[in-house]
Amino acid sequence: MRKNFTEYKNFSLEIGCGWGEFTRAYACINPDTLFVALEKKLGRIVASSKKQEIEGIQNIRYMVLDLAWFFDGVFTANTFDLITINFPDPWPKARHRKHRFVSHEFAVSLYKICRPNALLTFATDNYAYAREAVTVFENSPHWKNFVAPYVAVDKIQGRPESFFEKLHRLEGAPIYILRYQRT
Ligand SMILES: C[S@@+](CC[C@H](N)C(=O)[O-])C[C@H]1O[C@@H](n2cnc3c(N)ncnc32)[C@H](O)[C@@H]1O
Repeated sequence: MRKNFTEYKNFSLEIGCGWGEFTRAYACINPDTLFVALEKKLGRIVASSKKQEIEGIQNIRYMVLDLAWFFDGVFTANTFDLITINFPDPWPKARHRKHRFVSHEFAVSLYKICRPNALLTFATDNYAYAREAVTVFENSPHWKNFVAPYVAVDKIQGRPESFFEKLHRLEGAPIYILRYQRT
């Protein structure tokens, strides 16, 4: 039986969930958390929701949204305990940098929708993007590095791997996982 929103104690948001592997795996092991998986490509969400139904997972809701259109005002303040951004498109060319998610403004937006002590995880195989994210979050008064200042880790025990994480690990690419806690 599907629970209502109000019956969940914890809320988690994945931004750019792609085909949803990470959120589905995490939702399975955290049945008391409601997972919101946000993605701009409808086809990816349809694929994930079909798998979710086959796997019998109840605690995921999807949102088709392009963050470039809007993000502020979509979620109520103080909602999420966990935010995950896994392998966002790196936009390596200088003229495309504006498409990256992470910015000082975005760090403030994420802060507003999180509960105190919420965790934010940002994973990438792109060194330049990892550095940019470090610069944003280390200089934000709203976020504190959960490990130690400026530190990224390569793996977090028990954390499911997304489609792109598996792909990059197979390629032998370095993985940078940043974890910040909301103040
Ligand atoms: C490289 S894929 C990573 C997918 C998944 N997180 C993973 O690790 O396997 C980046 C995902 O972010 C989505 N995305 C990119 N820009 C977005 C935006 N502005 N709003 C919402 N989703 C976006 C893409 O459609 C894509 O599915």
